[in-house]
Formats: sequence, structure tokens, C-alpha cells
Amino acid sequence: MLTQQELKQQAADAALALIEPLVGPDVIIGVGTGSTADLFIDGLARFQGRLGGTVASSERSAARLASHGLKVLDLNDVTTMPVYVDGADEIDGHLHMIKGGGAAHTREKIVASVAEQFVCIADESKLVERLGRFPLPVEVIPMARESVARSLVALGGQPKLREGVTTDNGNIILDVSGLQIDDAPNLELIVNNLAGVVTCGLFARVGAHIALLATQNGIRRLERS
Ligand code: A5P
Repeated sequence: MLTQQELKQQAADAALALIEPLVGPDVIIGVGTGSTADLFIDGLARFQGRLGGTVASSERSAARLASHGLKVLDLNDVTTMPVYVDGADEIDGHLHMIKGGGAAHTREKIVASVAEQFVCIADESKLVERLGRFPLPVEVIPMARESVARSLVALGGQPKLREGVTTDNGNIILDVSGLQIDDAPNLELIVNNLAGVVTCGLFARVGAHIALLATQNGIRRLERS
């Protein structure tokens, strides 16, 4: 029986195998944040000196990439990337995701938006029938904490301030439980449109293109239909 850590490693290895044929001096890889992304970063070290560079979705990932001698570029200097590789807190059969358990979802969404493909790496426990058991992370500008919280209650959620957390962008996170996520792309739009919300952790309007989900029986690959 493989441990969750071993499953995460398998998923990271599957993404490394996927990108290996792309590796070249002009190729830039987008890199996510989290424990699974960390394993991907550690494996990416083998391409050090053979890649054009990377773009990181957090200060944490940037530091880990740099510690392996991988070049970390400013997104403003990059026009395209073939892939962005990242984990998820939940993913469904449409490859819609909830992200932001590591408070990095705003930068994750930005970096992913510049990539041609989003490759989600996770152990199979992240695959759900329906999104929403994992509380939805919402990044909020601090002065809007209470007004956004009231709006989220009106949407049927129960927001809770993530204590002691400031995002890389200087904002707070409200974790919202109890939301009925029947139409994830629409809810993403509604929450993102609340005044004071920077981004919510729903990745449904643009979800993953490919999911590499590690199971006890090997990698299960899902592709956006
Ligand atoms: C970071 O903010 C998140 O979006 C992560 O991608 C997500 O929490 C997955 O993290 P793990 O790989 O640690 O489960």
C-alpha cells in the first residue's frame, strides 16, 4: 500500500515524464505551489541548465526553484509557456478544481493563464464527485473582510478568516464552507465579482487540461473533454 507521500511523488514523476520531451533552452515551465508541486520542483532540478527558465506561483516555490539552481523569471518577461504544473485541493470529472489551501491561488491562476496547458498533479484522494467539501479559499483585500464575509453568507456560505495568514500579495484569506457548488464556473464569476475579492480558489472557467492522478494501481490520466 503506497503512502500519500509516495502517491504524490508518483504524480510529480508523471508530470516530469510529460514535460521531458519539451525541455529546451527556450522553454519556460510554470510551477505551482504546495507539497505535490514541491516534489515536482525537486524533480525539475534534473533539467537545470537545459531549460529557458521557470515562472513561480509563490515566493515559496520561487525560493525552492532557486535553491536547485533553476532560473526563476518574472511573469512580465514571459509571453508563453507550454505547461503549468500544479496540485489541487479538489478536482472533479470536468477538471474543475478548488485550490488555495496554500493561500497561493491568485498567483497560481495568473501564471496558469499564460500557459497553454494546465497539468494538475495529485493523489487520487483529491478527485471528488462534486466540489465543495474542501472550504473555498477566497483572497480578500483586508479592508473588505467583513463586507465580503456578509456577501458570502448571503450566497449560502460560512466564511472563516484563516488566522495568521497573509498572502504573497498582502491580503487575507476567507475559507468558505457550506457552499452548494452546482455550477462552478458561474460561482467562480459571482465570487470574483464581489468588491474586495482578489480571486477565489475555484478554477472552473479555465480548469485543468490534463490531470495526472496517482492511484494504488498507477497513474490515472484524465483529459478535458
Ligand atoms: C496552493 O495554494 C494550492 O492551490 C495547492 O495547489 C493545493 O493546496 C494543493 O496542495 P498539496 O499538493 O499540498 O495538496
